[in-house]
Amino acid sequence: MAPVLLQSSAPGKVILFGEHAVVYGRPAIAVPVTQVRATATVNPAPPGSGLTLVASDVGKSISLATAPQEEPLAAAARFTLDHLSASEPDATLTVSSTIPIASGLGSGAAVSTALIRALATSLGHTLEPAEVSALVFEVEKIHHGTPSGIDNTVVAYEQPIYFVRGHPVERLAASAPFTLLIGDTGTHSPTRKVVGLVRRAWKRNPARCDALFDQMGDLADEARRAIEAGDVDALGPLMDENHALLIELRVSSPRLDELVEAARLAGALGAKLSGAGRGGNMIALVEDDLAEEVAEALREAGAVRVICTTITTTE
Ligand code: MEV
Repeated sequence: MAPVLLQSSAPGKVILFGEHAVVYGRPAIAVPVTQVRATATVNPAPPGSGLTLVASDVGKSISLATAPQEEPLAAAARFTLDHLSASEPDATLTVSSTIPIASGLGSGAAVSTALIRALATSLGHTLEPAEVSALVFEVEKIHHGTPSGIDNTVVAYEQPIYFVRGHPVERLAASAPFTLLIGDTGTHSPTRKVVGLVRRAWKRNPARCDALFDQMGDLADEARRAIEAGDVDALGPLMDENHALLIELRVSSPRLDELVEAARLAGALGAKLSGAGRGGNMIALVEDDLAEEVAEALREAGAVRVICTTITTTE
């Protein structure tokens, strides 16, 4: 079937509780960040052209036929065509993204999600979130080594989720909306690298790391109860505790700690790093009337960008 022009998009994400511990089977909570998105557009191309994949932000253009196996855009396209038992279309698929890369906001998962949806739709198929998530997970495995699956899940479902590796996804219903500031240290930190550091630490001292992961998992469970009960005030101290455990796991950084401290001093209810750590982003829970003040404090403390997002349940 000839592809038709169309566009798909996917959001960024932040992890609220349980990063790293989630790789080791503990629960975690993540929410989509709709203010930043990846977009994929499919345009028909002349017969015989095959599929060209263009990453317009970085000026990359590759042909599916000759792209290396591990190239992320090509891998996403190949997994999709295999899943649909479809042959390569004559088309140009262009991806772009406003999600900062290597910063814990799920940019890779979002680009793959947008690409997979756009390609499938152009071939006349509508994929369920679970199918998209499973395909993105295959791509994530090429790049992140041992991903838990939380990034592809929250991005493909575009809903707050409570996630345990290998378990069916649970959508999380927030009884009361809450507002987060996402502060970017400006330091890139590839997830694969930090996940690898934690893996080595766990191999050296499994008992110590498992004890930290257990505590992080307990915090995620407590946070889930607070979110479902609409007890926003209870979330702040839980975030602070999670950050302290992440420091013990040695995945924070001076820049992250400075931003976390600046947010707390300016009146945030709680703050922590989010994602793999060692750079990337931190999050702060704020009351709406203090959001601008805390955002300003983050910028003064050196945040290169601050995103404000409110978590609500749309169901
Ligand atoms: C990355 O967004 C979150 C980590 O827990 C890795 C993973 O879950 O795959 C650090």
